[in-house]
Amino acid sequence: MPVSEQVTQVEKDWTEAPLKSLVEHLVRDHRSWRVKDFPLIQELFDRLEDTAESIQPSGLVSLRRAFYRLRAEMEGHMSREENVLFPAIVHAESHAITGSAGPRPIFGSMQNPITMLEDDHDHEDRFLAVMRDAADGYQLPEDADENLRTLFGALQALEAAMHAHTRIESSILFARALRLSRKKSCS
Ligand SMILES: [Fe+2]
Ligand SMILES: [Fe+2]
Repeated sequence: MPVSEQVTQVEKDWTEAPLKSLVEHLVRDHRSWRVKDFPLIQELFDRLEDTAESIQPSGLVSLRRAFYRLRAEMEGHMSREENVLFPAIVHAESHAITGSAGPRPIFGSMQNPITMLEDDHDHEDRFLAVMRDAADGYQLPEDADENLRTLFGALQALEAAMHAHTRIESSILFARALRLSRKKSCS
């Protein structure tokens, strides 16, 4: 799914939807970044290296470096979500539906991985801010060529999609998962 479509889906109300379908929605975002957006942005940076330096903004090297750091950070973060927290949330929800206790996760309290993942989100926000600074707020020089326009457009769409995605995780998914785990430990 292109990043522009991901942004419009933020409007969907996830406060009542099954957690399993919310997790599937978030994993689709991850897949789209891994398979489409990250490789496309990398290709646009590569193409820009072949253009005349005079039309490149001065922060392009820092911008590219920050993008690589964001991408590397995101690869680890998405794996941690997909392999650790998300399956635990789906299991907790299905046990809550059937009324069964279910095994205690190996990481102990649900709060433990959530605290770690929230730290990741703070790092990602910082990388996105560094990228925006390096690109001078994504203001295009007057003589910007098509590649630079496309790159800045793709980076701004990625930034918006990532903020929207993180907002859904922190304020809806993680909050609902914690409520579910507290209810379970009280029952
Ligand atoms: Fe995520
Ligand atoms: Fe996340």
